[in-house]
Amino acid sequence: MDVRDADQTPTEVAAEVAAEAATDEAAREVAELRAQVVHHNRRYHELDAPEIPDATYDQLVRRLQELEAKYPSLLTADSPTQLVGGGPSAAFAPVQHRVPMMSLDNAFDHDELRAWSQRVNRGLDLADGAGDALGYMCELKIDGIALSLRYEDGLLVQAATRGNGQVGEDITANIRTVSVIPHRLEGAPAVLEVRGEVYLPVARFEALNEAQEAAGLARYANPRNTAAGSLRQKDPRVTASRGLAFWAYQLGEVVGGPELVTQSSALDWLGTLGFPVNPERRVLPTIDAVIGYVEHWHEHRHDLPYEIDGAVVKVDALAFQRSLGSTARAPRWAMAYKLPPEERTTRLLDIMVSIGRTGKATPFAVLEPVFVAGSTVKMATLHNADQVRLKDVRPGDVVVIRKAGDVIPEVLGPVLSERPEGLAEWVFPVHCPSCGHLLVRPETEAHTFCVNLSCPSRRQTQIEYFASRGAMDIEGMGESRIARFAELGLIADAGDLYFIDWDEVAGLKGFGQTSIDNLKAALEASKARPLVSLLVGLGIRHLGPAGAGALAAGFGHLDRIMAASAEEMASVDGVGATIAASVHQYFQSEAAQGLIDKFRAAGLNLVGPEVSTLRQVLAGKAVVVTGSLVGFSRDGAGDAIKARGGKSPGSVSKKTLAVVVGADPGASKLTKAEELGVPRIDEAGFVQLLETGELPSAPVVP
Ligand code: IVH
Repeated sequence: MDVRDADQTPTEVAAEVAAEAATDEAAREVAELRAQVVHHNRRYHELDAPEIPDATYDQLVRRLQELEAKYPSLLTADSPTQLVGGGPSAAFAPVQHRVPMMSLDNAFDHDELRAWSQRVNRGLDLADGAGDALGYMCELKIDGIALSLRYEDGLLVQAATRGNGQVGEDITANIRTVSVIPHRLEGAPAVLEVRGEVYLPVARFEALNEAQEAAGLARYANPRNTAAGSLRQKDPRVTASRGLAFWAYQLGEVVGGPELVTQSSALDWLGTLGFPVNPERRVLPTIDAVIGYVEHWHEHRHDLPYEIDGAVVKVDALAFQRSLGSTARAPRWAMAYKLPPEERTTRLLDIMVSIGRTGKATPFAVLEPVFVAGSTVKMATLHNADQVRLKDVRPGDVVVIRKAGDVIPEVLGPVLSERPEGLAEWVFPVHCPSCGHLLVRPETEAHTFCVNLSCPSRRQTQIEYFASRGAMDIEGMGESRIARFAELGLIADAGDLYFIDWDEVAGLKGFGQTSIDNLKAALEASKARPLVSLLVGLGIRHLGPAGAGALAAGFGHLDRIMAASAEEMASVDGVGATIAASVHQYFQSEAAQGLIDKFRAAGLNLVGPEVSTLRQVLAGKAVVVTGSLVGFSRDGAGDAIKARGGKSPGSVSKKTLAVVVGADPGASKLTKAEELGVPRIDEAGFVQLLETGELPSAPVVP
């Protein structure tokens, strides 16, 4: 029980308890949001494979910012709100940006744009309205990849991506193939860094997708991701073939050159040096005029031969920019106005049902092709029977489609005024469209399933999932190849991938020796993947990467997992009863046993990480580390705590067992520990704590 101040009234105590509970709740939500934002940053910036639409990502960041504003004690310097984008990836050499490449704050409606202009005015000590005399530079927000070009004595010496804003990736060789980017400048200063956006024009993107389709390969999702992928090519010839383009919009480091007074004159100057500068830029005198500009482009975004996701408004006078300055993440003198996800209407031609890897029967809309948010949409998921009923969409309807910012198309609903008379409601099929087996909807489920383990559709999607990036990551083994191999009877399950008759493949159209060699190498490489990837790849219902990781670590070998009872599995931290039951049931099936036999015969890694044999002396306890220790790295100290069953959170709360204080500790953690009466211990005390689980008898550190 907590000891509280004896003088407090019950109301005060109740208020304090409520406030604490609210902070705890917020802390949990903040931790969860941060993990999600970090994850999606990596998917977007490093892997070029976003999983959620931009708009959803923006909501996550917004909610996180809101909570951090409301509970300042939860704001830490390493929060993704304080950092820019993802980290650099390992494939290209790192480049330290001499002037950081910042991100932009976002406004989602006119009010937020006006509020920003008022903040600008206040920041400049200008009366409201007088600030309009500043002049706003309005630019389009190009939906591409940020790039920094460095010229020394007029020669292009380096091109780098933004990375995390401080350190990017060196992609000079690839950028040299982009024909609109000058290699040599006339009359340039000693050092000139130009920032801008590399993008793929829509026409090039469409042509590329036509070529993909003709070759039986999967289509690219949208121009932005395709541009990102094109820049990450190891072979610059591939980049060259893509037809990338560039708009310059900002200066980085400049040594020498003309005296520039405004952003607009800087852009004009870049134009005279030979850089492509977007012609739709405007200097506008008032925030009302700025709103006119953003609305114009809201209406006309599709008149452009490239994709935009909004507009960027910058204070034009560079002296004002300097005096406004920046936060850790973004300049105060600029604001991105994000356009809402666009909507289009098209005809719903049919509703069909696809069978996923767990047998889940998912209805999807077959649409009259419509161009939305950067690519042609022909299909969209409808999730399940209830969703179809709820949305009341019927084959023959005109429907509203949205592609929330980028990747995943969604059917919002029908345009009822255009519904043909007597249009019949759609009925969920009774039989599996692939194998004809009866479809089953368990009472407690929103989904319907094909329960036939040998259903060909189900098997095929299982193989796709097995080979996908999130699982065994077998490069080149995508949907269309798997479909082809399966149709030809070369594979029936994921285990068969390792025993493909390559002589037969060699006779197929579209398979040269190089692609066969690449596929073989990718399969070979996958054999050594960690056990967790294999477990994920099995596609067992309810088992995600976290549960798979817990099982792999808890049992240490696939055989031990297969031999375990559901109860034994559920006793592993991080494995709930639902997961345990599902995994147990899965391994009981003959199909699963046959599959694992093939993996074993192929020589796949079945061994997990070493099982911790340490006594769990810190089970369920939280120990916070601050400052640097001699015998442990920052991660090492956390790992040592976790290996003994404890947690190592980033902030001190009343539940913290102890704060380990190293050299240069964080002042806020120390103060918090003192306030809450949490014991502070030194490194020797920490070592003792790790060994015994007991605090030293006199733990206080000065
Ligand atoms: S200015 C310090 N201007 O949007 C200001 N950025 O969401 C740096 N972007 O990282 C950016 N068009 O990749 C600026 N006209 C434009 C832009 C633009 C697109 C991108 C850029 C930036 C991102 C922020």
